Amino acid sequence: MLTGLAEITDVGRDPRRGGYSRHLWQAADLELRSWFIERAERLGLDVETDRNGNLWAWWGQPGTDAVVTGSHLDSVPGGGAYDGPLGVVSALEAIGRLQASGFVPSRPCAILMFAEEEGSRFGVACLGSRLLAGAIDADQARALTDRDGVTLAEAAQKVGVDPAHLGVDRDALARIGLFLELHVEQGRGLIDLGQPVAVASSILAHGRWRLSVTGQGNHAGGTTMSERRDPMVATAAAIVGVQTAARNRPGTRATIGRIEAMPGGTNVIASRVTAWLDARAETDQETRLLVADIAERAQQAAAQNGCSATLTEESWAGAVQFQPGLRARFTQALGQVPELATGAGHDAGVLAAQVPSAMLFVRNPTGISHAPEEFAEMADCVAGVDALELLLRELL
Ligand code: GLV
Ligand code: MN
Ligand code: MN
Repeated sequence: MLTGLAEITDVGRDPRRGGYSRHLWQAADLELRSWFIERAERLGLDVETDRNGNLWAWWGQPGTDAVVTGSHLDSVPGGGAYDGPLGVVSALEAIGRLQASGFVPSRPCAILMFAEEEGSRFGVACLGSRLLAGAIDADQARALTDRDGVTLAEAAQKVGVDPAHLGVDRDALARIGLFLELHVEQGRGLIDLGQPVAVASSILAHGRWRLSVTGQGNHAGGTTMSERRDPMVATAAAIVGVQTAARNRPGTRATIGRIEAMPGGTNVIASRVTAWLDARAETDQETRLLVADIAERAQQAAAQNGCSATLTEESWAGAVQFQPGLRARFTQALGQVPELATGAGHDAGVLAAQVPSAMLFVRNPTGISHAPEEFAEMADCVAGVDALELLLRELL
């Protein structure tokens, strides 16, 4: 394990779920931010927090046309140790190595640590980069709530980020000449290719929707089976429909990974069930068609159980093709490493709509991610740092 990862190995461990739960501006995230600042300052970098809570660590004077690298430190609930932190730690390692070799950059350079990439607290993935890039309306963002009903505005205020200033940050954006994110791979692509490192080619279109199924809350003993309007049963049928819809459409992916019953009693027929859908496909249109199919199946499942269903979009990210010119330049510089598509979303994908952006992937020998089994061998992590260092040296 890289030293930086070892230093944060105990931060945000989740004994109940396994793995890590590191959520925006909660204790583990605040500890990771302090660690990042301390680590960056040890390299002589100047750290600033932008108006959206993203951290920038500048090597030399901040300026325009900067080469910016980094990733995120937050996690999904019960996530792995590498998704996000590997990119931040590799950036610190690569800059440390450049400094140790006496290299003097000819362009401004910064490490960027994005806030709330996973959307685990406020529901919208890549929230920090979306706010920075103006890819989410600031009022809409301020009103987002966490599972305890705390708004993003309130949470920001509590940690000293002025909620009035959340939103598109044209000055910060104008400083980025190129953004390069290193990330652990989240599938089996590099296992199959037998390679430690790849350059990203594309990201699937993806989004999140809230499925709300309403029935009639009632007594588990007093209500005969034929009298029921049970949204739990309707939701179960809708979830089977989610799987069927995605299986019928080759290459698409759909997941219900979270569900909540109201009021949530063992001897109570629920009055409402909320389930969250994550749907992805190669193109925006295929993703929209998949979701329309799922919505229809959910309506049918609800009607068959005397319930009603609504599907509401919570976030959307169109498909991303990283710039072919940058991809070719980087694969060549790295000795013809492969290009690889990904089904996972990334801040680099959000920034790609505004500034030249690219990504490096590091092999994950388990092929598992968003779970404690996510892994990267030390030798592959080193290969990732080598690749990042080489590209930074060339770009800077
Ligand atoms: C983030 O990792 C996502 O793809 O949801
Ligand atoms: Mn992730
Ligand atoms: Mn990630």
